[in-house]
Amino acid sequence: MTSYQYQNQQLQLENVNIKEIAEIVNTPFYCYSQESISTAYNGYVEQLKGLDTQVCYALKANSNQAVIKVLADLGAGADVVSEGELRRALAAGIPASKIVYSGVAKTPDEMLFALSKNIFQFNVESENELYVLNEMACSVSKKAAIAFRINPDVDANTHAKISTGMSENKFGIPISRTTEIYRLADSMEGIEVQGIDVHIGSQLTQLIPFDQTFKLIREKVIELATMGIQLKIIDVGGGLGVDYDASNPVIPSKEDYCALLTKHFSDLDCKIILEPGRSLVGNSGLLISRVIYKKRGEERTFIIIDAGMNDLLRPSMYEAHHDILPLTESDNTATYDIVGPICETGDTFARGRKMAELEEGELVAIMSSGAYGAAMSSTYNTRLQVPEVLVNGDQFSIVRERISYEALINQDQLASWQ
Ligand code: LLP
Repeated sequence: MTSYQYQNQQLQLENVNIKEIAEIVNTPFYCYSQESISTAYNGYVEQLKGLDTQVCYALKANSNQAVIKVLADLGAGADVVSEGELRRALAAGIPASKIVYSGVAKTPDEMLFALSKNIFQFNVESENELYVLNEMACSVSKKAAIAFRINPDVDANTHAKISTGMSENKFGIPISRTTEIYRLADSMEGIEVQGIDVHIGSQLTQLIPFDQTFKLIREKVIELATMGIQLKIIDVGGGLGVDYDASNPVIPSKEDYCALLTKHFSDLDCKIILEPGRSLVGNSGLLISRVIYKKRGEERTFIIIDAGMNDLLRPSMYEAHHDILPLTESDNTATYDIVGPICETGDTFARGRKMAELEEGELVAIMSSGAYGAAMSSTYNTRLQVPEVLVNGDQFSIVRERISYEALINQDQLASWQ
């Protein structure tokens, strides 16, 4: 579903002319469509009607409070990976009873904080983490409800940096050790074994790896039941991708993905937790930027825009493709390298891209930037982190201001001897 379209040759997000936002907010900035987020969330809910499920939004994709609140109001839970994310989820109104805590290295302090909030589940990733969690829970006379994240050794067929389900990856407990680790946990005073968890990677473009993984998880649930360990939660992680290239859609539908969940798990009498991040917010967001210079090099023409790799890291970090559209529609085309102002060659958004012709001063939208965009941004090159704007119908609202240079510099202080 697309929440943007050209009207009178001007790019609109929902019913808002993005240029109008740019006049007030100044570039670069992110803007998100509330409608697109809601449609994506409801897509899961709709497809999973027959199953007992809870969608727990993976906050790391976009942790703006307003974005979390949109999802909280729709009934979403949260998948968090740090005390900071847990605090954000709670602050946006997601009840602790719908929060799962993932991550390979929860610290004792983080565990104690999460225990004090009575979260729904800890997804435990190692034996040593289990010991520490047991100790922390006992120290406050509580039982920590847990699932083990199992590493199924399945290739997600995605970029190596976001592939997490193979034995060479740091994540989860090797599937061969499943029964052993559950037996151990079952004997611990501070641990309540309730589920099993898996997450094999992000931006998956095929269903086969999910199918293979869910089959293995199903087998483990059945095997554990025969040992007297009856699980009631199956957490299937996130990972379903989004289309980044509108001219070449490749992502399987939510319908087909959810059909797999039904196929593998509907008869197991378990609640299914999903942890989608990107597929809820990815296509909802645009990074709006202005062309500063058009520079003709020896062989290529560079369009230098005012957004950089510090604002959107994905192209530089994962060689990710993002469509780039002019805010004013044009029929003329040209071939460009679209680059940022940062002092690194990796600060490149597109190379040799055939696209609409652009002039200096023009505004462009870097599409599908709602997930892992603002959330991964930094102040590298002492650039101000960009503002974020939420659009809803014909309204828009700034949901994160651009801070001042003064505030940024004042985050530092001189050493006592200076
Ligand atoms: N659950 C766990 C345990 C995860 O580690 C992740 C993502 C998710 C859920 C959500 O996955 P999603 O539905 O968004 O694929 N920065 C990278 C993506 C990193 C994903 C990390 N984990 C990117 O920009 O592509």
